[in-house]
Amino acid sequence: MTGRHQGGRSVDEITGSRRLRRMRKADWSRRLVRESALGPDDLIWPIFIMEGEDKAEPVGSMPGVERFTIDRAVQAAREAQGLGIPAVATFANIPHERKDQTGSHALDADNIINCVTAAIKAEVPGIGVITDAALDPFTDHGHDGVLRDGVIVNDETVDIIARAAVLQADAGADIIAPSDMMDGRIGAIRDALDAAGHQDVAIMSYTAKFASACYGPYREAIGTGGLLKGDKKTYYVDPGNSDEAVREAEADLDEGADMLMVKPALPYLDVCYRIKTELRVPVFAYQVSGEYAMIEAAAANGWIDGEKVMMEKLVAFKRAGCDGILTYYAPRVARLLAG
Ligand code: PBG
Repeated sequence: MTGRHQGGRSVDEITGSRRLRRMRKADWSRRLVRESALGPDDLIWPIFIMEGEDKAEPVGSMPGVERFTIDRAVQAAREAQGLGIPAVATFANIPHERKDQTGSHALDADNIINCVTAAIKAEVPGIGVITDAALDPFTDHGHDGVLRDGVIVNDETVDIIARAAVLQADAGADIIAPSDMMDGRIGAIRDALDAAGHQDVAIMSYTAKFASACYGPYREAIGTGGLLKGDKKTYYVDPGNSDEAVREAEADLDEGADMLMVKPALPYLDVCYRIKTELRVPVFAYQVSGEYAMIEAAAANGWIDGEKVMMEKLVAFKRAGCDGILTYYAPRVARLLAG
């Protein structure tokens, strides 16, 4: 049907014979012109660590995700390396008796976060290990910093985080990724790492971490869910702000960040895009626990095709300019990509 339509013009006249559907006509032609693609090199796998031996425990609100004891985490890292995943990011579930108001167990060189780093680097040296320096796994109130008289105290927290970062680097961490959003923590961590001789340890800043309602399942995974008093709005970025997110990014780069991360991911794609196009530095998105849970819940109900939705959402980060994605789907995606 190339005849004239009601208004008199043919489609060829309307389009000037430019038909974008030509390149969409077959799988091979779609593959040929595809602008963004996802590969195993784009993936960072966040894993949950718990005390004990030879155990993996399912996380209820994150079907398919488990907490690992250190030995199992080493196996997971080996599996990840085999799948071509460049790095894992570790998060600790700390028993309640080791938590306190200032998160002092973060400064214990032998805590599970440092032990799992040492174990992975000893047995799977080819995979990158990224550690979080925030205090929330270690505080008895679930906040990312020291809580005094209802206030998260910035500078005292920065001091502890910088010292925790050095211990993490001592244990072998390749990248320190502070998820706390205290002012000045990137510069303080850089200074502390350099002073300790860790010039080669990089910093991935959680630069634009939003005060989001999407973190719930993570808090179940690390056991902080019931603890948190109040919210994190005095230190995380307001969901309405993207200029502020770019300012945070500029500040973190000035302070010495090597890579920047936006979190959560999909609701903040515009922020990923702005940081990439305006600052031209390595940018990562963290597809958080709530984003994972939403896909899994809808898929379990048969309302969506979970695997297709997973792939579509992940390629969106590449299209928005991200260099990589932290995602609980990492091994599943890598397996899928490997066919
Ligand atoms: C806190 C922290 C959070 C996540 C990782 N570290 C957010 C929070 O609990 O407030 C979220 C990760 C996720 O939801 O997947 N420093």
